[in-house]
Amino acid sequence: MKRILITLCGLCLLTFYSFSQPTVKMGKNSFKPFKTPISLAVADKRADSILSLMTIDEKIEMIGGHNSFFTQGFKKYNIPEFYFSDATQGVHIRKNLDSSTQKSTAFPCPLALTATWNPSLANSFAKSIGEECRANNVAVLLGPGMNIYRISQNGRNFEYFGEDPFLAARMIENYVVGMQSTGTITTLKHFLCNNTDFHRRRTNSVVDERAIHEIYLPAFKAGVDAGAMAVMTSYNQVNGEWSGQNSYVINQLLKKELGFKGLVMTDWWSVYDPEKVIKSGLDLEMPGDKNPNDPQFNELGDTYLRTNAARLIKEGKVTEADVNRMAKNSMRTFIAMGLYDRPVKVESYLEKYPEHEKVALQTAREGIVLLRNEKNILPLTPTAKKNILVVGKYVENIARGLGSAEVLGYNNISMIDALRAEFGPTVVYDKNPTDEQLKAASFVVVSIGTSDSEGWDKSFNLPAESNALVEKVTKLNNNMVVVVNAGGGLKMTDWNTKVPAIIYAWYAGQNGYTALAEILSGKTNPSGKLPITIEKKFEDSPGANYMPVGMELYTGWKGDYIAPKIPVFDINYKEGIFVGYRWYESKKIEPLYPFGFGLSYTTFEYSNLKVPKSEISKTEGVTVEFELKNTGKRAGAEVAQLYVQALKSSVKRPIKELKAFAKVELKAGESKIVTLKLKSNDFAYWDVKSHAWAVEAGNYNLLLGSASNNIKQTGKVTIK
Ligand code: BGC
Repeated sequence: MKRILITLCGLCLLTFYSFSQPTVKMGKNSFKPFKTPISLAVADKRADSILSLMTIDEKIEMIGGHNSFFTQGFKKYNIPEFYFSDATQGVHIRKNLDSSTQKSTAFPCPLALTATWNPSLANSFAKSIGEECRANNVAVLLGPGMNIYRISQNGRNFEYFGEDPFLAARMIENYVVGMQSTGTITTLKHFLCNNTDFHRRRTNSVVDERAIHEIYLPAFKAGVDAGAMAVMTSYNQVNGEWSGQNSYVINQLLKKELGFKGLVMTDWWSVYDPEKVIKSGLDLEMPGDKNPNDPQFNELGDTYLRTNAARLIKEGKVTEADVNRMAKNSMRTFIAMGLYDRPVKVESYLEKYPEHEKVALQTAREGIVLLRNEKNILPLTPTAKKNILVVGKYVENIARGLGSAEVLGYNNISMIDALRAEFGPTVVYDKNPTDEQLKAASFVVVSIGTSDSEGWDKSFNLPAESNALVEKVTKLNNNMVVVVNAGGGLKMTDWNTKVPAIIYAWYAGQNGYTALAEILSGKTNPSGKLPITIEKKFEDSPGANYMPVGMELYTGWKGDYIAPKIPVFDINYKEGIFVGYRWYESKKIEPLYPFGFGLSYTTFEYSNLKVPKSEISKTEGVTVEFELKNTGKRAGAEVAQLYVQALKSSVKRPIKELKAFAKVELKAGESKIVTLKLKSNDFAYWDVKSHAWAVEAGNYNLLLGSASNNIKQTGKVTIK
């Protein structure tokens, strides 16, 4: 490869580039899965020898949790008790359960992490949280949560990794390795098809086999392949049976197909038939005891494993071998991670918190998405910086996701404090600004958004007062930016074109507003891209009719507590594999903001796409090479996205599917050669006849672009 670039500068200079031109290689080859410090085979033997000493009653104690978030320990066998804690974006501190816990950093939410499109950041992010688990005596982190973004209204989307299985998978595998490298176990949750929190204990996800394999399993598979040691089942039913007692879900999909060998636990109070639970392949019921907060839930009676297993053995419905398998899987997992041989808590990890804060900040810098920037109103000009008025919802209080995933953080920096630190004391906040104030400001920052939570879904529509505020400001002062803090897409259609700038800041963590301030000032060049599609209206979206007719959104824990009183209702995943951009593109519905979209303060040029070997066999992969140039005046990072398009197929296929991406940093004027690799499976679909992946011979387009709707270069490959 030899390349000649002509650079013009004063004199006409010829610069020869050969191999010296920077090259970025992105593929899945560099990724190394996690290996337990003690092999599973050795751990297996050790678990067997402990089991052989235990009575059946002792073993039964091990198949249900204790004291809400602990497993049972046995001093006489040197089995420690282990503390589990939530969740994906940091450690949820529960001092009432374990007074030795200290504090934890509030990181940006996982959806913001995904918006960075930076898998190595997922590794550092999770490593930091893993270290904080060690500082706080947490042996098992109850995350990453990783259910696909199917419905924008899902209250838990902020905890997850967006709508695309490939992007989620790449982030998850790095998350798992980063976390477990600290000795903390990760828990992939919620298995499976838990894509709404609307009466989450009463829903039956009706999903076809192809969608399960192409959309809902890949992120879990990536986590399992990366070496995750625990999986949590979900609250919902999958095709008619509760996940935590569903043999198809656990024995067939998780254990047989994905080859998972770690610990399978239930979500908290989510199983009802102990015999089925034992036979489904599950290992540990959590929390394993009555729900003290929920008298109605307890009306279901005592169905807990620890109180029923002995009877079931006596009645011949399950065997002691079943209980052995469950207890052994738990033990084997903890032993393999070294947890029987060393303490969980290591105080000295507290010293690493300053580093963790840096990781949190970097995640916010890279994850915040600039959606709109008319006439380059951002970054702020010196005049605009002089008199900034901040109005709206999350100015003094940090926006965050709630529920078990909530992390309070420490040294929290509010939006107003961050803006003052960046621009000086002239930044003014007013709860009820007058029209005169709004008119007089050199720039107005309008904060809107929602605080989403598990336990319920939120409306896609913004609260009326937020819309009214935005509309009001547009009329009085058009030097403005709308900053959205939210755990997923929200309806911005009514005012989108009236405002010059929109920044999607998700829940950015304890120091995320510093990143926002840097983006406003131009110190940081935004590089985040949407890991979701933001639709124009909710009715456009694939799961729009998921709520039964006549039922309404609610907030608060009511939905959980009245659960047993509501009949189970079906959520039909009628769209099959057409989730996210796969849906909008195939239905020709134009979204407000497409998947993969995000602006920068600089510009990038894609050129010279090459597919060196464009005829391959069904078992081969393909390498793609192209040149990416920063054609603007600032350093910046671009997320180059490669989508595969099957030109002809015997089954319905999406218009395109993301199969590779690279985040490339470029100085002003700099260009790099980028290499992306596709594996044979990146061309495959799940064949329901053979119940296996299939690659069809034929022609495929390789679409290279800066967003799902912005393809810059097209390559071709033929599979023989
Ligand atoms: C949530 C889980 C969480 C568990 C323990 C449940 O309500 O669904 O994600 O890990 O509580 O806090």
